[in-house]
Amino acid sequence: MPPEAVPWVADVGTDDDPFEEFNRAMGAGRIENPYPDFAELRRNGGVVRADVRRLMGLDDAAAVGHLDMPEIFTVSTYEALCAILRDGTTFSSRGYAEFMGPVLGHTILEMDEPEHHAYRKVLTNAFSRKAMARWETDVVAPVVHAYLDAFVDAGRADLVRQLTLPVPMTVIADLLGLPREDLTRFHRLGIELIGVSVNWERGLAASQKLRDYFATLLEERRRDPGSDLISVLSMAEHDGLRLTDEEIFSFLRLLLPAGAETTYRSSSNLLVGLLNAPDQLDAVRSDRSLVPQTIEEGLRWEPPLLTIMRTVSRDTELEGVHLPKDAVVVVNLGSANHDESRWEDPERFDIFRPQQPNLAFAYGPHLCLGMHLARMEMAVILNAVLDRLPGLRLDPDARPPAITGMTFRAPAGVPVVFDT
Ligand code: HEM
Repeated sequence: MPPEAVPWVADVGTDDDPFEEFNRAMGAGRIENPYPDFAELRRNGGVVRADVRRLMGLDDAAAVGHLDMPEIFTVSTYEALCAILRDGTTFSSRGYAEFMGPVLGHTILEMDEPEHHAYRKVLTNAFSRKAMARWETDVVAPVVHAYLDAFVDAGRADLVRQLTLPVPMTVIADLLGLPREDLTRFHRLGIELIGVSVNWERGLAASQKLRDYFATLLEERRRDPGSDLISVLSMAEHDGLRLTDEEIFSFLRLLLPAGAETTYRSSSNLLVGLLNAPDQLDAVRSDRSLVPQTIEEGLRWEPPLLTIMRTVSRDTELEGVHLPKDAVVVVNLGSANHDESRWEDPERFDIFRPQQPNLAFAYGPHLCLGMHLARMEMAVILNAVLDRLPGLRLDPDARPPAITGMTFRAPAGVPVVFDT
């Protein structure tokens, strides 16, 4: 991607910026550190009845009025989360259909078994390790370096606006083979879609526009298939099962919140952790074999997505607490990743702590389908920053970055200076 084609950076941060609006409604700038509250929840037991509005940091203006409010429980310990996430029969994903279905369509996220398993099999090949190796060299590295080219001589940058925010969305656009000139519009529609809880009508409109846009592309790719993800999905098959057009559109829409939103936040959070621990930054700069564990620690310490949800499909009991049929369970990934029974001094960012799996990508049948892509993107971003921005440090003249937000967490900006 030529540097002059670096798209849409100018589009965010304007008065009419749906990204800002979305971030605010998700609690950005308001909720700095929810982890002490999570520790309190864990002290009260792994499974606790909860007030979901408070937990999700949704303000009253957020358009959640269409949700019925059943009994709600939060689950906060590592063990309790694993018990829930591994049992997709008792803890159904169908609840997503109610508030995401109208916008995304019927996606893998809301499917239960056996439908989920069959559908996931069809998709898995598209995200194979072979695909990942090709995507790294053909797509991710060129995109990351193009964004870096645009500011590498300036000696200062906001690593969110200029790097971590645009990269994952551009990567998805490139994986889909979208024409470069469509990128600004695609990104805007993506943010409007993700921001549906802020503006319901606008979210629905964006969903329809994306569907129509994808429909034109799908027709083209059927006539003249390439190696892009739309062509791959149009031909994907497992045991005779193929995706319908509507299933393809729904999956493509899901890629925006599931793939771009999360990865931008996880990369930003990782940079905050490292920039606030210069000795660890130096260590990983001089020994790149530390990159994988650095990424895992970033994901553990500040997972971009704090909570997911499940619906209880039959009366059951967990850790001595009765969970009635149809209760909603808020599955607190952030809290589980700070469970002191598993990680010593869990609030500390420490790339040298003993490595063991965390729950940032969830667990069980719905384990993130894009986790290899996310990890690869984070590694490419981190390596490129370490290679190309010598003397990288937080900008001493700017406000230090703060990771804020509930449900989704990230810093609004990461202002840095570096040597040129
Ligand atoms: C750091 C980045 C990411 C994080 C933290 C993350 C996290 C998650 C989590 C927690 C789930 C489970 C949701 C649930 O069961 O309720 C999930 C599912 C999913 N993710 Fe990711 N994700 C990331 C990146 C990606 C990327 C890059 C893609 C694809 C481009 C992706 C695609 C998906 C899909 C399709 C699912 C649904 C899987 C299923 O239901 O079987 N994710 N992700």
